[in-house]
Amino acid sequence: MENKLSFQSIVEEEITIVEDRMRDQAYDYHPDLQAALDHLINSGGKRIRPNITLLAGKMLHGDTQSLITLSAAIELLHTATLVHDDLIDGSLLRRGIATLNAKWSPAATVLTGDFLFAKAANLAAEVCSIPVMKLFANTLSTIVNGEIEQLFTDRCNPDLDQYYRRIYAKTASLFETSSLAAAMIANSDIKAQEALQKYGYQLGLAFQIVDDIFDFTAEQDQLGKPVGGDLRQGLITLPSLLYFEQNPDNTWVKDFFKYKCNPSSSFIDPLIEEIRISDTIKQSLEIANSHVQKSIEALSIFPNTIYTEGLESMALYVTERKS
Ligand code: IPE
Ligand code: IPE
Ligand code: MG
Ligand code: MG
Repeated sequence: MENKLSFQSIVEEEITIVEDRMRDQAYDYHPDLQAALDHLINSGGKRIRPNITLLAGKMLHGDTQSLITLSAAIELLHTATLVHDDLIDGSLLRRGIATLNAKWSPAATVLTGDFLFAKAANLAAEVCSIPVMKLFANTLSTIVNGEIEQLFTDRCNPDLDQYYRRIYAKTASLFETSSLAAAMIANSDIKAQEALQKYGYQLGLAFQIVDDIFDFTAEQDQLGKPVGGDLRQGLITLPSLLYFEQNPDNTWVKDFFKYKCNPSSSFIDPLIEEIRISDTIKQSLEIANSHVQKSIEALSIFPNTIYTEGLESMALYVTERKS
């Protein structure tokens, strides 16, 4: 784990309580569920989403206990999506340690994910707000719908709108919920809710674009999860999309589409390397930065407090981070 970042120290005590609340969810269930949950929570993670909820909620003078419960619900939902995502992607490493699917059968992994989803919903219900509960459930439907679209809709289509729809569904939707739900439980007016929704939406887009860049540029050791997998699995993300647009006559690009995005090992490694050293990485980062700027702009209606500053420095961190 890198050194503590400025925004992390503002709500770090609350984050410890959030982690305890998450751990408590397996109390009195099968010991393997408790072991799995401990393994997942102890493996770390940046805790970006609960930081958003706590900073946004405290900026709006929301009740700290409700914000902690909501944050635990959101981080547990995120954890459950990672458990299933790693199984779907066949990823064996996350946060620098073995994934559940690397150690357990697919059946045990699916069931653990299901348990975490159920417990996340239970925590969300404890906030005692039907609108928040609805938002939470709709967000999960959006994430799952995005994953299904990624599996079944014509993936082999370098289309920017489709890319944005996908990254909204899989990532930005939960960022948006992290900030919007905080405003809802703080009983904020509609203007504040809309501003925070925009903050989370824009930041989530930037976050997934950077994650997609890392899949080309990062080292596995630093990232704590495998790299290069997206294109190898036929998944077109912003850097490759821009590269295909700008280099339609490249032989490897032509081969990639000739084989309907089911790349063979003879050209996928050189193609990934070409993209890695191309300008499209910088271009993608510039696009991510433009979303960060929009998220920061959304905060302009709020008074300048330590929490507003925390939200701003977190937004900047999203494109400056190294993992
Ligand atoms: C990983 O999310 C999944 C994506 C949306 C890219 P994070 O990068 O927030 O994962 P952790 O929680 O820090 O491990
Ligand atoms: C996953 O996106 C987002 C989820 C909703 C789980 P990725 O597949 O890009 O996440 P990583 O790279 O495995 O963390
Ligand atoms: Mg994945
Ligand atoms: Mg990724």
